Amino acid sequence: MEHHSALRHIAFLLLLPLLASIHYGQANPGPRLIHSIFSFGDSYADTGNFVKLAAPVFPVIPFSNLPYGETFFGRPTGRASNGRIIMDFIAEEFGLPFIPPILGEENNFTHGSNFAVVGATALDLAYFHEKNITSVPPFNSSLSVQLDWFQSLKPTLCSTPQGCRDYFRGSLFFMGEFGGNDYTFIMASGKTFGLVYV
Ligand SMILES: *[C@@H]1O[C@H](CO)[C@@H](O)[C@H](O)[C@H]1NC(C)=O
Ligand SMILES: *[C@@H]1O[C@H](CO)[C@@H](O)[C@H](O)[C@H]1NC(C)=O
Ligand SMILES: *[C@@H]1O[C@H](CO)[C@@H](O)[C@H](O)[C@H]1NC(C)=O
Repeated sequence: MEHHSALRHIAFLLLLPLLASIHYGQANPGPRLIHSIFSFGDSYADTGNFVKLAAPVFPVIPFSNLPYGETFFGRPTGRASNGRIIMDFIAEEFGLPFIPPILGEENNFTHGSNFAVVGATALDLAYFHEKNITSVPPFNSSLSVQLDWFQSLKPTLCSTPQGCRDYFRGSLFFMGEFGGNDYTFIMASGKTFGLVYV
């Protein structure tokens, strides 16, 4: 499957730039090593996708209101945090702007995009529906869906195999956190893991 090779690619890319940054350190900023960041995950990494997805469904979304965002931005940004998340500090370290959420107002993703969604699961929504687990919110935002969003964005970033290799050579892929919500929703449904996985 496409996803499988994409994941291997991503795992490889994740290691390389981090090692490079450790090597150069802060004292020697050197040439820009990373020009873009692509981030996938759940509430630990979302910078505004969930509030867009949920706005038509939920009348009140906590992350759209203070105290979310109050310490750094002075307004709610869709982050499930009162300030910045880890990805913001990483972007800052590489001299990049905060990575815009794919569903947000920003539509220039030259410096990367954030696909993370609060509540996202590693497993697909269809899996939970098959198992009659109804505690999962009705949002299609699992790991494979986020990878589909990335695949849709890709042609706007590069168009030839060589062009894409050149572009993504300078990209940091950040995968996760994922999986915590899968357990949470199964527990909330009152089912045991044994029943679900047999
Ligand atoms: C997108 O942003 C990049 C970097 O900031 C800039 O060079 C480029 O011209 C922008 N593209 C568009 C279509 O505005
Ligand atoms: C899900 O619920 C339906 C209807 O109640 C039932 O027929 C089906 O066996 C259930 N499936 C599982 C995997 O529990
Ligand atoms: C979720 O989105 C994917 C495309 O990314 C689609 O194939 C799938 O059918 C959708 N699932 C549900 C339950 O809507």
